[in-house]
Amino acid sequence: MVPVGVEIKETEVSDEDFEEMKGFVRDYLAASVEGEDDGGRMRWYPWHSSSYRFNHILNVVDLATEIAEAEGADVDVVRVAAVFHDVAKLEAEQDVHAEAGARVTREYLQSRGNYPESFIEEVCGAVVDHSYTGDLDDVPLESRCLIEADVLDKVGANGAVLMLLRMGYESRTHMDAAKMVDRVLQRAHDHTERVVSDTAEGIAHQRIKRVKWLREWLEEEVSRMDAEGVTDR
Ligand SMILES: [Fe+2]
Ligand SMILES: [Fe+2]
Repeated sequence: MVPVGVEIKETEVSDEDFEEMKGFVRDYLAASVEGEDDGGRMRWYPWHSSSYRFNHILNVVDLATEIAEAEGADVDVVRVAAVFHDVAKLEAEQDVHAEAGARVTREYLQSRGNYPESFIEEVCGAVVDHSYTGDLDDVPLESRCLIEADVLDKVGANGAVLMLLRMGYESRTHMDAAKMVDRVLQRAHDHTERVVSDTAEGIAHQRIKRVKWLREWLEEEVSRMDAEGVTDR
């Protein structure tokens, strides 16, 4: 018997089904770059590789789930949309990767399990919406959770580390680090202006604080870190 007041959801995505989706997306990304010659799309940059993209997706799944739970969104719609949101990122051009991803998602959900059309519509809608650059008050709650999570993965310690890695690829030295971390901080502020939920704002502020600490520590430890024109180019 169902206890009074407990709503039985029409769609339940089991942990097993969810793990299978993750595996599908990981393999899809890897297959997208298979046989590509290295120079093609700068895959030597960590964030152009399929392993980076998959890792980003896992980060977004965690963030989006946390936001969805706290904001009262449909958690299954949000986490399934999150796992698929960048599935086509490495095979499609940036400006159409959201639509292409939604097509892959629809095909997957229609051919596996027994998901109602309304669920598939909502998930695919959020995947399409994730590249929306306008006001987050204008999209459904589930899309908003996904977009906020996608933005937050660029903010914080992870964003700072990626920027420092990039310095290495650009043959910059650690003398530029504070400047680069500054850029991370600036971008974090820009990104954070977009988020609207209290939950996402809270996460953003915590992450910005971490980047500020990193900058302060660098300035404290590395002499002439903030000197003018040291290695600027
Ligand atoms: Fe994307
Ligand atoms: Fe993304």
